[in-house]
Amino acid sequence: MVGGVAGIVAHRGASGEFPEHTMSAFEAAIAEGADAIECDVRLTKDQHLVCLHDRTVERTSDGTGAVSELDLADLQAMDFGSWKRPGHPEPVVTLDELIDLARASERKLFVETKHPVRFGGMVEQKLLATLQRHGLSRPGELQDAPVVVISFSGSAVWRVRRNAPGVPAVLLGEASRLLGGGAATAVRAQGIGPSVDSLRERPDTVAKARAAGRFTYCWTVDSEADVALCNGLGVEWIATNHPARTRSWLRG
Ligand code: G3P
Ligand code: CA
Repeated sequence: MVGGVAGIVAHRGASGEFPEHTMSAFEAAIAEGADAIECDVRLTKDQHLVCLHDRTVERTSDGTGAVSELDLADLQAMDFGSWKRPGHPEPVVTLDELIDLARASERKLFVETKHPVRFGGMVEQKLLATLQRHGLSRPGELQDAPVVVISFSGSAVWRVRRNAPGVPAVLLGEASRLLGGGAATAVRAQGIGPSVDSLRERPDTVAKARAAGRFTYCWTVDSEADVALCNGLGVEWIATNHPARTRSWLRG
C-alpha cells in the first residue's frame, strides 16, 4: 500500500514508453514496480484470446484486418512493436503468456473483455475456461484474487459473477452511471471503474462505493494532479500508462 492508493495498475503494460500489450511493456511494468497489469482481450478467428485493444490490427502492427477474422498464426507473423519503437519488432501476446508472466512475477491481472455482446458471451466463456485451466478462478479473499475481470458491459460482468463466483468483477463506466450503485448491484460487481475524467466531476463516487462495500478502480490516471486526487479519495486501484512516474508521485 502506498499512501491512500492500494495498487498501481499498468494500463496495457507500461504503455507510455513501450508498445501497448507487448512483452516489453508488461516486463517494464513489472520492473517499474507496478502491483498489477491491465490488458484487453479479444478472440481470434480460431478462438485464441490475445491481448489487444482495437478491433483491427492496423494502429499497433504492420498487418491489416480484424482480430476476429485472423488466426493466431496470422497475428504471430505480424510486428506489434515497431510502430512505437522502430527497429524493435515484437509478437502479439496471448492471454496464456501474460498469465504465465503475471504468476511468475506475482502480479495481479485486470483483464478487460472487449465487445462481449457482439460475440454472445464467447469471450467470457473462453476467459473463464482459461482461468480455470490455470487454477485462477478459485474462491478466496477478494483482495487476494489473482485475476479481476473488468468490462463496460453489464452483461459481461453478470456472466462472470454467475459462472465464476471466485473471480471478482468490475463494472467500468462514467461516474454518473456508477454513482447510484444500481448498475453495479444489478450485475453483482464487487468494484466500480470510473474514468478519472468523470471522477473529477463526481469525487463522491468513491466514498459511495465504499459505503456499499465496493472498491474503486480508476483509469487512466497519468497526471500528478489526478494521482493526488485518487490518493486523497482512497481509490484502491489506479490504472496508469506510467507506473514508475506514478510510484514516485505517490512517494513524493
Ligand atoms: O482499464 C479500463 C480502460 O482500459 C478502459 O478503456 O479504451 O483503454 O480499454 P480502454
Ligand atoms: Ca482496457
